[in-house]
Amino acid sequence: MNVLVTGGAGFIGSITTTELVSAGHKPVIVDNFSNSQKFVLDNIEKITGKKLDFYEIDVRDTDKLHEILKTNNIDAVIHFAAYKAVGESVDNPLKYYQNNLDGLLSVLDAMKNAGVSNIVFSSSATVYGDPDTVPITENATLKPPTNPYGATKQMAEQILRDASNAHGLNAVLLRYFNPIGAHPSGLLGELPIGTPNNLVPYVTQTAAGIRNKLTVFGDDYDTPDGSGVRDYIHVVDLAKAHIAALDFLDSENAGVDVFNIGTGTGSSVLEVIQTFKKVNDVTVPYEIGPRRSGDIGTCYASAEKAQKELGWKAELSLEDALKDAWTWQQNLEK
Ligand code: NAD
Ligand code: WQD
Repeated sequence: MNVLVTGGAGFIGSITTTELVSAGHKPVIVDNFSNSQKFVLDNIEKITGKKLDFYEIDVRDTDKLHEILKTNNIDAVIHFAAYKAVGESVDNPLKYYQNNLDGLLSVLDAMKNAGVSNIVFSSSATVYGDPDTVPITENATLKPPTNPYGATKQMAEQILRDASNAHGLNAVLLRYFNPIGAHPSGLLGELPIGTPNNLVPYVTQTAAGIRNKLTVFGDDYDTPDGSGVRDYIHVVDLAKAHIAALDFLDSENAGVDVFNIGTGTGSSVLEVIQTFKKVNDVTVPYEIGPRRSGDIGTCYASAEKAQKELGWKAELSLEDALKDAWTWQQNLEK
């Protein structure tokens, strides 16, 4: 398949691009480098051994997008391009609504005009808010969003459902849990700008001595060791879920379908720190601090639907992800 990958120079998009090539697809990347760097494209080429088709554009440029869809005979779109920093979305909500929603609307408009009807969309477990029960299944009630970033994901899901009803669009919404790790080559991974908000980049930067110590946000949750529990999914497994979603869309499945993409298992912050130290033989100084505002205690996926209907399940372990994250961190400093 010829697949347009928006945000293909980003963390998840770049690694998905390498998996697309491995699976025999032809990716075409668009990105505006608002949260990525050009060397990523060279590294994708190093890994795949293929020359990449790439366009530096903003996905809100509908005319250019339309032209790219037509020229490249695109069969399906994977739409990653969006802003993703929860805290920044609270401080600058309009920036998030503009990019994440105008971006999606532009992609859908271009697809409609070019006659492309299959899309895989990056949603997030954030749509579930603080869940009533775990593991979380796809039919769990969505909670009112607690930040503009989360709101854009809920609204985007609704936009995709409406576009499907009206225009015959076929969409797979993948609700990612906590993506971590890096490509095992050490050539592709996450590029946090400034101080990381997410746990694993903070851990790797602390181990590297860039940060003095990690603060564990709360040890008084109703969890086995009191620290927050999340479903950490290796980014390579996550990337493969997109290939499964494309195959699903390419079969007779029409309309909108939604899948959790997680391992089905929760790990606590303290477990992540201990595992990171063990597999990488490094120290991670940390202290226990207060809870972070807006955080929840426990969140992990039921991964059964994805296994049953997409034929996808996570294969890599927390150990694998934390090893790969550390290799990536060390390469970043070279
Ligand atoms: P990322 O920031 O690394 O990648 C996003 C890419 O999109 C970047 O390369 C950026 O330059 C590009 N981009 C942003 N706006 C654009 C625009 N208007 N036009 C063209 N390119 C644009 O983020 P990521 O972690 O790879 O996330 C990818 C998607 O997955 C996002 O939609 C994000 O909301 C979603 N998601 C991420 C996580 C996570 O923890 N990383 C969890 C759940 C969902
Ligand atoms: C994980 C755990 C923290 C940093 C966020 C977004 C979500 C999704 C993924 C996009 C929690 C604890 C963290 C630190 C800590 N993104 N922690 N010290 O909050 O589950 O999800 O990223 O869709 O929308 O909200 O991920 O990595 O920030 O936190 O103790 O310095 O680590 O309290 O328990 P989160 P996270």
